[in-house]
Order: sequence, then structure tokens, then C-alpha cells
Amino acid sequence: MRPPGDKVDTEKSVRELRESAAREIESASTARELEEARVKYLGRKGLLTSILRGIANLGEAERAVVGKAANRAKEELTSLIAGKRESLEQGLRDASPRQLDVTLPGTGDWVGSRHILSRVARELREMFVAMGFSVATGPDVEDAYHNFEALNIPEGHPAREQGDTFFVKGGLLLRTHTSPVQIRVMEETPPPIRMIFPGRVYRNDAPDPTHSPEFHQLECLYVDRGVTFQDLKGTLAHFARRFFGSRIGVRFRPFYFPFTEPSAEVDITCIACSGGREKPASGTCRMCGGTGWLEILGAGMVHPAVFRHVGYDPEQFTGYAFGAGIERLAMLKYGITDIRFFLENDLRFLEQFA
Ligand code: PHE
Repeated sequence: MRPPGDKVDTEKSVRELRESAAREIESASTARELEEARVKYLGRKGLLTSILRGIANLGEAERAVVGKAANRAKEELTSLIAGKRESLEQGLRDASPRQLDVTLPGTGDWVGSRHILSRVARELREMFVAMGFSVATGPDVEDAYHNFEALNIPEGHPAREQGDTFFVKGGLLLRTHTSPVQIRVMEETPPPIRMIFPGRVYRNDAPDPTHSPEFHQLECLYVDRGVTFQDLKGTLAHFARRFFGSRIGVRFRPFYFPFTEPSAEVDITCIACSGGREKPASGTCRMCGGTGWLEILGAGMVHPAVFRHVGYDPEQFTGYAFGAGIERLAMLKYGITDIRFFLENDLRFLEQFA
């Protein structure tokens, strides 16, 4: 039999152990110090562990009291350690911004910007609105009547058989130009008309630096009594100088479109070689091929057959129309060498215009 005081002593030493362990855990300032305290009290040969091991050798009454106290102390210390570990880790996290790695990329805010094509389209729109034109749009999915027939392109006409049209179910198609919007507007509105029609068009072309199966056009239509080719020339010359700069030269070259008569293609003096005035070192200018001119759009006086399709009297009214590729205008103005850049979303391209 052990002396009665023994029980009291064991219980007391459990309490003391618990207190000193708690102090050491609390005062640990690093994970390593905390671990040392844990091993000292709760490790395999720890002070509290030894007491717990010795419980089996105690008398029955003592075993219950000491066992309870020691187990509770173990639980308390275990949770104290866990709490302390958590707060030491949190402290490390809080402190880490001060350990600044100046070689890392900055975290500055990222500001987006409008796509270059949207900006050019808006610039064009604003220019024509300032000249008194209003804006309308038409459907991308068209019927053959509006895309061809009413534009004086009858069935069997080569422009319809070129294989460059995307056909859709139900005899419909993706418009190959914005000219069908001319028809839709004239069907609904009596003259005079002074409007522009921006929009996306589709052609079954293999992509290359100057071809894309989808691109954008800006169509223009002006119909009234007494509109002449001279009005067309004046408007386009003004537009070209505003868009490309006051020194640009403009010429009208006879051309053929089924829906205009007479028709013309409009050229500007080459931006790269200033219309042939500057001879590039390589010999021939790569942009204009040495001609000194760059084509920018197709134009002409609205064909009487078109007016008859929409119920306008060609004896009373005349009009001009033109259609320009928006990508083409942007490429010429900004020296962009491949139309595919517009759709690729490569930031190295887009950021140059931000
Ligand atoms: N629709 C023609 C094209 O896509 C352009 C054009 C429009 C020409 C209006 C003349 C008048 O090529």
C-alpha cells in the first residue's frame, strides 16, 4: 500500500505540469519552440505521457482521480497547442507582405479598351453623321431576293455563281455585302434618303492576309431629286481626307457593279510610298505594288433597275451608293498587314491600339 499522501501528490503534480506546459505553449514564439513544448509534455517520453502510463500501477481510487485529471490535462494542452499553431501561422501570413519580392510582376489594375475595329467603325459613323447621314442596319441572314435579285443580280449572273456565298437552310443565305440593306430601307421609306448601313458580311473565302470569311462593310446610300456623280465625288473626297489625312489623293476608276451605273472603284494615293513619290530601297513598294494607288471602296450611281424593284421612279430620283470594307480601311490607315489579326484576340496586337 502506498501512503495516502501519494494520491494527493500525483494529482498536484498533474496540475502543476498542466500549468507549466500551458505557460510554455503560450510563450512559444516559433513553430519550433511550440514543437519542443509539445514533445516535452505530450511526446512519447513526455512528462504528462509518463504520468498517464503510470496510472495502471496506481490504486483503484487514486487511478480514477489521477486518470481523470491527467486525461483532461492532455486534452486541454492538445487544443492549446493547436490554437497556438494556428495563430503562429496566421502571424507568418500577415508578416509575409513585408518580404517583398521586387522581381515579381506588378499587380496593377488591368484596364481594357475598345477593339480597334469598333473604334474605326465608330469614327466612320461619326464622320458621316456629321455630314448629315443617319444610321440603319439590316439582317445578317438574308434572302436571295434582297442580296441579289433586287440589286440587279439575276439568277445565272456570275456574281451569284462564284461559290463565295454561305447558304443557310430554307433558301436563305449569309449576306455577302451590306447592299441588301439599301433595298430593305428603300422598300420601307420614300425618298429622300441619306443613310449609312454598317454591318458584318460573309464570304466563303479561304482566310489569308487579305481575306476573311467574315468582315465588315460600311454601305452608304443617298437618294433625292438631282443627286449627281459630282455629289458622290465630293462626299468621298471629303471622307478620304478626313479619314486618311488632308494630303491624301483620291481617284475614281471606272468599274462595273450590277446595281450601279456608272460604277467606279475609288483609290487613294499609297500611304507607304506617298503615291509613288518616295521610292522604297527595295525597288517596288510592297503596299501598292508600285502603282502608287490603293483601292478603298466600290461606288456608283444607283441603277434604275434597282429603283424599279423598290417602287422608286428613276425618272424623278437619282442616287449614289458606295460600300467600303471597314477592316480594309483600318488596315490601310494603321498599317495592319493581316486581316486575321482582327479576330485572333492576340493582346500584343490589340494593345497597340489601346
Ligand atoms: N456591294 C459592293 C461590294 O460588296 C460594294 C458597292 C456598294 C459598290 C455600293 C457600289 C455601290 O463589293
